[in-house]
Amino acid sequence: MPIKKAIFPVAGLGTRFLPATKAQPKEMLPVVDKPLIQYAVEEAYAAGVREMIFVTGRHKRPIEDHFDLTYELEVALEQAGKEELLAVVRSVKPDDMECVYVRQAQALGLGHAVLCGRRLVGQEPFAVLLADDLMVGDPPVLAQMVEQFQEWRTSILAVQEVPAEHTGRYGIVDGSAINERLVEVTRIVEKPAPQDAPSNLGVAGRYILTAGVFDEIMRQPKGVGGEVQLTDGIAGLLRREKVLAYRYHGKRYDCGSKEGFLQANVELALQHPTLGAGFRDYLDRLKL
Ligand code: UTP
Repeated sequence: MPIKKAIFPVAGLGTRFLPATKAQPKEMLPVVDKPLIQYAVEEAYAAGVREMIFVTGRHKRPIEDHFDLTYELEVALEQAGKEELLAVVRSVKPDDMECVYVRQAQALGLGHAVLCGRRLVGQEPFAVLLADDLMVGDPPVLAQMVEQFQEWRTSILAVQEVPAEHTGRYGIVDGSAINERLVEVTRIVEKPAPQDAPSNLGVAGRYILTAGVFDEIMRQPKGVGGEVQLTDGIAGLLRREKVLAYRYHGKRYDCGSKEGFLQANVELALQHPTLGAGFRDYLDRLKL
């Protein structure tokens, strides 16, 4: 059973990144030379997903434009003989990838955003990717999760160990180890204070969920911060179905925060095939 659909909730206000996000979506902020949302979409595509469902809001038009045909630009590049750039532009949306958009009229929380994709998802298991968590992995993190899903056929959350003092930034899971990578989740809590956290396993912004989560999200009252929380929906789901937490191989950059965004830019620039060497020299010189 392949995962064919992914929801990208991109309707948040991005307040931690003001003023940069006053008139442009956080998900369009570039890390080196690509917007955050493109990294997430490429990760989903690499995992076999072909239907990308964007839950958007006001001020999110640039995301739709980014994945649309840019006719004038393509003609101009073609006429100028700039074949390489033309290929870069065209690769943003491969022909076999479909993009669909649904609006979340009010940013009522991540759970609510996911619920907005319900009709487009239907009854099949689906992925959720939060573009502000930039994940670097080989194979890509969602592909690792899809592989686990093929074996276990149940909901899977990407998790990592987080510093004890940071539990208040994450959904935190508790459970029993199945093997060194997988934990069967028995409990999940949204943003607990360190003294209330059941473990230090924090959920990163990658999920594979069964469609049963939609009913569970609907059943939940508003949670932390007055928002409809995806975590609470998952807490309901695990009372009915097995939910697994998967310790992914790879690195996560929290690009919803300024520090994580800067780190991603520096580290990905250092790894960049054409910019990397020169950028490293520049950083070396800065240290002097
Ligand atoms: P965040 O809480 O990190 O994003 O939600 P935010 O609310 O935009 O940012 P801050 O905290 O104000 O700086 C994680 C993801 O969920 C989406 C966001 O766009 C982001 O990609 N989201 C969040 C929605 O689509 N709708 C919501 O109601 C809330």
